[in-house]
Amino acid sequence: MNVTSQIKQPIFKEMELFEKKFYESMSSQVALLNRITYYIVNRKGKQMRPMFVFLTAKMISGGTVNERTYRGASVIELIHTATLVHDDVVDDSNRRRGFFSINALWKNKIAVLVGDYLLSKGLLLSIDNGDFDLLQIISVAVREMSEGELLQIEKARRLDITESVYYEIIRKKTATLIAACCALGAKSVSEDVAQVENMRKFGELIGMAFQIKDDLFDYTDDAIGKPTGIDIKEQKMTLPLIYVLNHCLPKEKSWLINSIKNHNKDKKRVKEVIAFVKNNNGLAYAEQKMIEFQQEALQLLENYPDSDFKTALTIMVNYVIERKK
Ligand code: IPE
Ligand code: IPE
Ligand code: MG
Ligand code: MG
Repeated sequence: MNVTSQIKQPIFKEMELFEKKFYESMSSQVALLNRITYYIVNRKGKQMRPMFVFLTAKMISGGTVNERTYRGASVIELIHTATLVHDDVVDDSNRRRGFFSINALWKNKIAVLVGDYLLSKGLLLSIDNGDFDLLQIISVAVREMSEGELLQIEKARRLDITESVYYEIIRKKTATLIAACCALGAKSVSEDVAQVENMRKFGELIGMAFQIKDDLFDYTDDAIGKPTGIDIKEQKMTLPLIYVLNHCLPKEKSWLINSIKNHNKDKKRVKEVIAFVKNNNGLAYAEQKMIEFQQEALQLLENYPDSDFKTALTIMVNYVIERKK
């Protein structure tokens, strides 16, 4: 059995029903919107966020989920999808999940509106059902994701990012939503505040490792279903580059900064920067940090009694850093 089927095994039925509910949750009276949401659901991603929701809920409850868990999973995947649609506009990226991005096919105007539509559908799904406790968890994530993307743009403009600001960016733009998955999964089945907080922290830590992995992909030529090598083009400074900037000679640092500032659209120069980062342990350092976050996440699972759900969640924690896309 491959790793993803191992993860899905204890939540197989839930994920099947989730997919149906998720698609229904996007429906609209506007034909153009339905055409686009049809395009989106046919190119589904890894669905790691709903998996985190269901596995957390089942681990905490000992195997039961409820309608709130399903709605929470749909809301989070709707919001995740909305942010990807917007992110590809922001990053000027033309591929997503192995196909054209929404902005590549329908242009930015439509992509912005589709992202807003998906976000509002998500929020309404919570509101219409009175899931206000879950909505509170989710809304914090929505706010932080916008802050994270904007902080990233601010730092890209000034090229003065530090390692700790990088962690703040990825905590906000990515880890917060995975934290919300695990907090929400727990809250949907338990009123135990400490329990919910423990799972939120778990999600945040594994979310940090998740984004470091995503940033490492950008330094490869791997077929991951979206462009690689675009971060430097977009002047996005991620951990491998930040480490190297802080550990090279002043002359090299000037060359790096100048390359990113003034030659970021020059393919040959970008390749040279990537090679420099690789040759100066940038990837190795980022990998080491990624593993530290992942190990910290694993430790938070140790307090829970053994179960199939805990085993699957543990496999998923490893999958986050070993995945191929
Ligand atoms: C991509 O998330 C956006 C990041 C936070 C890095 P995923 O890698 O989970 O995207 P899909 O849903 O599987 O396409
Ligand atoms: C992802 O950031 C975080 C989001 C809030 C979508 P990236 O820009 O690094 O994600 P990818 O690599 O495009 O999926
Ligand atoms: Mg992007
Ligand atoms: Mg990326």
